[in-house]
Amino acid sequence: MKVVFICLGNICRSPMAEGILKKMAVDNGLNWQIESRGTNKLHTGERPHKTSQKVCIENNIDITKQKAIDFSIEDLLTFDKIYVLANDVLNDIKKVCNENYLLSKIEFLSNEIYPNQQLDIFDPWYGTEKDYYLVFEEIQKCCQEIINKYKK
Ligand code: 4NP
Repeated sequence: MKVVFICLGNICRSPMAEGILKKMAVDNGLNWQIESRGTNKLHTGERPHKTSQKVCIENNIDITKQKAIDFSIEDLLTFDKIYVLANDVLNDIKKVCNENYLLSKIEFLSNEIYPNQQLDIFDPWYGTEKDYYLVFEEIQKCCQEIINKYKK
């Protein structure tokens, strides 16, 4: 299965999601392709935020080698599962894509634990260090649901 997580900057939330699900997939013997993207193009090529790196390292997840990649419409074709982290991210995608069959592939990551609610995963970029820990835990719960649902 090919999975992509999309947030705004691809430096805070989606890099953590990528790292968390990659580790869970490996731990479960699943040969999945897992990547992440950002829609706002403000941090292209940058490493994940220092605090995202720190929270991940404390959980034995190394995201230090990731680099922010811009979302492109092709991603909607390439990946089987496309998770947006928040509503503003989906709105950004809708600005560049109006193909309903592609948009219908997109899911909210938060729906894995709060079905049908389309809730945002809080953006820690606008928060405190503690928010990175809370966001990590929430993303971890969502990723566990993905593993439970799709592992054979
Ligand atoms: P992310 O957080 O979408 O979780 O990577 C953000 C990082 C940077 C900005 C916004 C959100 N920014 O506007 O620079």
